[in-house]
Parts: sequence; C-alpha cells; structure tokens
Amino acid sequence: MYSYAPTAREICLLGGLLVALVTFTGTFQSTSLSVSEVAKLRSSQFSGYIEEEPTSITFNEKFSLDSLHAPLLWGKGQVPETEIVTHVPGWTMFDKLYFKNGTFYIVTDDPTDVPPLKLIISSGIFLTSGPTDELKRLPTDKDMRVIDTSEAKKIFGDRAQRLDGVTWLANDPKQFITHYYHWSAELFFGFWRAYSSLDPSIPASGKTDLPAPRRFMFTHLDAANWRDYAAMNQWVLLSTFPSITMEFMDDWWERGNTSQTFVFDRVLLADRAAAIHGHIFLRTQRTAGNAFALPGSVHWWQPIRNRVVNAAGLTEFSYADYTERLPVITYISRQGWGRRMLIQEHHERLVQELYQLRDDYGYEVNVVSMDKLTRAEQMVLAGRTTIMMGVHGNGLTSLLWMRPTPRSTVMEFFFPGGFAHDYEYTTRALGMVHYGFWGDSAFTRPDVPPVAYPPGFQGNEIPIDGALVARLCVERLSLSEEADD
Ligand SMILES: *[C@@H]1O[C@H](CO)[C@@H](O)[C@H](O)[C@H]1NC(C)=O
Ligand SMILES: *[C@@H]1O[C@H](CO)[C@@H](O)[C@H](O)[C@H]1NC(C)=O
Repeated sequence: MYSYAPTAREICLLGGLLVALVTFTGTFQSTSLSVSEVAKLRSSQFSGYIEEEPTSITFNEKFSLDSLHAPLLWGKGQVPETEIVTHVPGWTMFDKLYFKNGTFYIVTDDPTDVPPLKLIISSGIFLTSGPTDELKRLPTDKDMRVIDTSEAKKIFGDRAQRLDGVTWLANDPKQFITHYYHWSAELFFGFWRAYSSLDPSIPASGKTDLPAPRRFMFTHLDAANWRDYAAMNQWVLLSTFPSITMEFMDDWWERGNTSQTFVFDRVLLADRAAAIHGHIFLRTQRTAGNAFALPGSVHWWQPIRNRVVNAAGLTEFSYADYTERLPVITYISRQGWGRRMLIQEHHERLVQELYQLRDDYGYEVNVVSMDKLTRAEQMVLAGRTTIMMGVHGNGLTSLLWMRPTPRSTVMEFFFPGGFAHDYEYTTRALGMVHYGFWGDSAFTRPDVPPVAYPPGFQGNEIPIDGALVARLCVERLSLSEEADD
C-alpha cells in the first residue's frame, strides 16, 4: 500500500515557498529579475490605505544562495572599510560593520572620522545613577573596536559572512524595553526616526521606498523580555514589519561562538546609555530626541502609523477627509485603575462637560478605559481621534496612532506642580499640539514647567476643571483645517 510522506527536500521547498510568499509582498509580475530588482522588491513598500491593484505574488528562483548570500570575500585584497552613514548619540547607522566573537569592529584607515565610541555603544548594563556605574557603562575593547584594514585582515582572514539588507540592532538590556511606552514611543520611535532620515521627503500619505528592516537584533536581551503586559509591542512590530525576524542574546553568543566574522550590509545600532550623552537628551530626557537632529520629513511617522492602524482595521481615509470629518474627542479614563486617578467628582464633571459638547456641537465623544478595549479597538479609536485626553500615564501612548492635522491635540492632566516630558515630547515630535493641565490652569510650549514629581503625582486626588478642558476643546476645534502641505 502506498502512503504519501513528504521527503525532507519537499518540506524544505515548501518552506522556502512559504517564506517567499510572505517576503515578496511587492507588486511584481516578472519571473526573471536582476539581483538589484529583487533587493528592491524585498523592501516591502510602505503605504497608507490606498486603493491599489491586489498584490500578485510569484516565487522567484533567482533569489539564490550564490547571489545574495555569498560571503563578502576580499581574498588577498584589502578588507572593505566600514562607512558611517549617519550618527547622533545613541543612534548610528553603518554600512559594513563587522562583528566577531561578540565584538563589533569598525574597519577604517581614517579613524579621525569615527565619533567617540561612548556616543555609539555602551557595555549594555542597566542604567543606574552614580559615577561608578557610569564608568561601568563605558564601552571596552570587548564591545567595539576601531581597527585599520591590515589589522582587520589579521583578525578576519579572507572573508566575512553577510547579514543582508537592513538590520536594526539594540544594545540595551531589558530595563527600558518591556513596556508599551518605552518600546513604541522610545525604541521603535527612535529607530524609525533615525532610519527615516534617509527619506526626508515622506509625504502625508506615508508612502516611502525605504526598505523594511530584515531583522531586529538584541545583544543584551533575551526572547522572554521584549513584550509588555498588554501585548502592544508585538502588535506594533508585527503589523509594521510582518516579515521581520528577531535575534536575541543567545543568538548573538552563538554567532560569536562560531569563530566566524560577520558583516552587516547596513545596520542601525541603538544604545540608550550612549544616547544619554546627547545634548537633546539632556534637555528632553527622550533618547529618541537625539535622532531629531537628523534630516527628516514632518510626516516621518506616517508609514508606521498607517501600517499599525490599517492592520487594526481602520479603513483609512485621505488627509483631506480627516479635516472634513466631525471631530472625535477621546477621554482615556484611569478611574478604576487604582493609581494616578482624578478626584471622582472632577472626573464626573469632565464627562458631563464633554457630553455637553457632543450635544451642542455634534462632536463625537468617547470616554474609555483602554484596558477594556481590544488592541485593535484601541488602535482604531486612536487613529480616528482629533483630541485625546487623560491623566499622565501609559494609556496616552495611543497618541502615536492619531493622524496629525492642525487641530490634533493631546491634553494631559497632572497633579498640580507635576510634569514629565514623555507625552508632551512625543506629541510635538509628531507635529501635534500638547496642553498640560494643573486643575484649573493649562500650559503649552514654550511655557512648560520643569520636570517634577511632587507628592500626589501618583495619587488618586488629581483635580481637573472640566469646564476649562471643554473650552479649550472648542477653541482647538474651531481652528481652520487647512492642510499645511
Ligand atoms: C571570545 O570572547 C570570549 C569572551 O569575551 C573570550 O574569553 C575569548 O578568549 C574570545 N575568543 C577568541 C578566540 O578571541
Ligand atoms: C557561547 O558563548 C557564551 C559566552 O561567550 C557561552 O556562555 C555559551 O555557553 C556559548 N554557547 C554555545 C552554544 O557554545
């Protein structure tokens, strides 16, 4: 009797086909493409929700081991030098950065062009304060070295294994990763801001030809420690770069243990401890802040934002439609959370004032607890919101998915005297307006107070003047909606 069992080869072929199906989501028809055409197609192109022809997918057999995956071979010749494509403290993009046995190597015969290594990388330990810890964070020869081409030849031999395409690599430990805000509004935010400096003309539609990163690597983080309790980090990563693969510290060691030399075609290396030396960081306490010194489009975030809200099911409308639609006010309530809550009567008065606006002006008003919504519901709601408000806290991370228009506003309630840059900075970095509230007074740039966490900051007696909030909403929503591009 014949029973069919697939051979290992058939399984491999099928696997390859599936990988190709997932990878090649571009719109190509031809089956014979050059290597450079293939490379271009692999860069899944970003777009907003645009009515396009359905994607047709064809397996391409030219994408072979020998073409794209051959080692970088210099034989008896000179080791190809590393190029620094862009650099600000904590965010450095290299072409041909080498690594071997856990150490990065910048190969250059002109080391004067290399920034101080402490602005590129650290030893990757936790960030704690104190001068001894600061010394421990400084990179050593084990972390990164700058060598000339002849030394490179002695260490590397005649070749290096290529990591093709674009890699994003974070050298941080888990300390500031396993949290929705730290991941999406700092790490991912900074990566994309630094990376998208290569396309400073991204339009409002968010369309860009930038290749998607092929892999996301972590040298000091294990696979169990990048997710957040609400599972938002996974959503953001997987809806933005569905083909991405991730490698963690075990993989990093294993690559190191092979005694082979590896080389990145292109890598963007992020290091939080290196970023804190940047002067923009010192002013804003935002590590991603340094990356804003690089060129960039005002619409730099739209490719990411669009992918996240589209994946959540938001049927995108055009920029013009946004400005014509009824404004949407979303109050993210923390009442019931148990920490950092409004005085209950003030919360009730605020809700009453907002519903009054709905009745008087026809605005859509939503009062929600984010933890009661599914992830997709959160993304869609944020994607439609014109004014988002709430007490300082993680729920406001949703502001990342708002569509920036001249009216788009974030209103953040603090205990009087308290202030933190997190959401204020993030709102402005997206081109929107932020108001902070201390009970019956409001402030905005440039009149923001210094960072402070007075007693009461984390408490459940935060005051808010609902009538003031409502007046400011009307003021913001009466603004002309001329698109500025
Ligand atoms: C590789 O790195 C380890 C750990 O730093 C070190 O002990 C070892 O000597 C290195 N191996 C080689 C061959 O350099
Ligand atoms: C690889 O190296 C690391 C440290 O360099 C070591 O702890 C680990 O056991 C090694 N793993 C393997 C699989 O050889």
